[in-house]
Amino acid sequence: MDESSIRENRKDEHVQLALTAEKAARSDFDDLTFIHRSLPETNLDEIDVTAKVGNLQLDSPLYINAMTGGSVNTGAINAQLAEAAAKTGIAIAVGSQHSGLRKASLADTYKVVRKKNPAGIVFSNVGADVSTDFALRAIDMLEADALQIHLNVPQEVVLPEGERQFSGMLGKIETLLTKTSIPVIVKETGFGMSFETLSQLQRIGVRYVDVSGRGGTNFITIENERRAEKDFRYLNGWGQSTPVSLLEAQPFLQDMTILASGGIRNPLDAAKSLALGAAAAGVAGSFLKILHTKGTDGLIKEINRWKTHLKMIFLMQGTRSIQDMQRNPIMVTGSLREWCELRGIYPEKLARRKKI
Ligand code: FNR
Repeated sequence: MDESSIRENRKDEHVQLALTAEKAARSDFDDLTFIHRSLPETNLDEIDVTAKVGNLQLDSPLYINAMTGGSVNTGAINAQLAEAAAKTGIAIAVGSQHSGLRKASLADTYKVVRKKNPAGIVFSNVGADVSTDFALRAIDMLEADALQIHLNVPQEVVLPEGERQFSGMLGKIETLLTKTSIPVIVKETGFGMSFETLSQLQRIGVRYVDVSGRGGTNFITIENERRAEKDFRYLNGWGQSTPVSLLEAQPFLQDMTILASGGIRNPLDAAKSLALGAAAAGVAGSFLKILHTKGTDGLIKEINRWKTHLKMIFLMQGTRSIQDMQRNPIMVTGSLREWCELRGIYPEKLARRKKI
C-alpha cells in the first residue's frame, strides 16, 4: 500500500473503532451539579441560546466536531453530517484536511460539507505542524468560517508510524494567526488542556480554544487497538477531562473564547460546560454513533432533541442567554473538587449563594 492508501485506511479504521468504543463507566461531569431553582421566573420563549465565536453568530451553542473526510467512506459520512448540520442549523467541523490537500481526488470528501450546507457555519481542520500556505488552502477548500488547528501528541505517540518531533508548533500557530482574519481555534483531540497549555497559547495570541477533554472518544485506545502488541493499554486514562479542562481555563475566560468538547453525553453535560464558561459545546463520537445506528434523519431528530432539551435546562435554571448560563452557579464536588484544591482553583466561587 502507498502512503495515501494507508492514510485512507486509517481514517476508516478510526471510524470503526470509535463506533465500537465502550462508554466510560464514570464521567467528571457527574461531579458537577446545578442548584435547582423552584421559581425560575422565566418562560421558554424568552430563552435565547445563540452563541458567539468571534464575529460568528451560532444559532445554537452545539456543534458537530471534527471527524471525517479523507477516504470514500468518510466522505459519505461527511455528506450525512453536513445534511444534519444544515437541517438543524448547528455548526460543523470536518476532520483533518491533510489528505484532501495532498491528494486532489480526496478534496471532494471534505468539499461535500460546504456543498450540502452552503449557508451554514463550517470549520476547517489541520494539524499544528502544517505550513501557513497549507492551512490557508484548507480554509479555501471549504470557504470555511473558522479554522481548527488540532493538537494530537498522544495519538501520534501511540501510532507506530506517528510523528516524533513536536517542537516549533507554537511558532507555526503564531505565524498563522497573522495570516487569516477568521477565528483560529486551537483544539485538543480528547486529552484536554491545562492552565500551562492555555498560558502558552495565550502568550502567542490565541483567542479561541476547544479544550476537547478526556471522557469520550479516546485516541490512545483507538491507536492502541491498531497496534499488533496493543502495548499502550495502560495509558488509557491519560489527559484531563473536559470539566477539569474548563476549570483550568477559568483564569482565561476574560481574554479567550473557550469551547468545550470531549465526552459530552447529553444536553445536561453541554449546559454544565456553558456554566463553566464555555461559549459552545462540541460533540463528535456520540453523534457519529447515532448517525451509524439511526441514519441522517435519526441524527437530525436527536440534534433537535438536544437543542430543545438544552433550552429546558436553561428554563429550569432561570437563565435566558449563554451569558446568563456562563455566570450561573454550579457545584463542584468529588474528585473534581480535589483537583481544584490541589491546583489552586476556587470552585466555591462558582457555587456561591446569592439572594434573588
Ligand atoms: C475525531 N477527532 C478529530 N479531531 C480533529 O481535530 N481532527 C480529526 O481529524 C479528528 N478525527 C476524528 C475521527 C473520529 C472518528 C472521531 C470520533 C474523532 C476528535 C474529535 O474532534 C474530538 O476532539 C474528540 O473525539 C472528543 O470528542 P467526543 O468524541 O468525545 O465527543
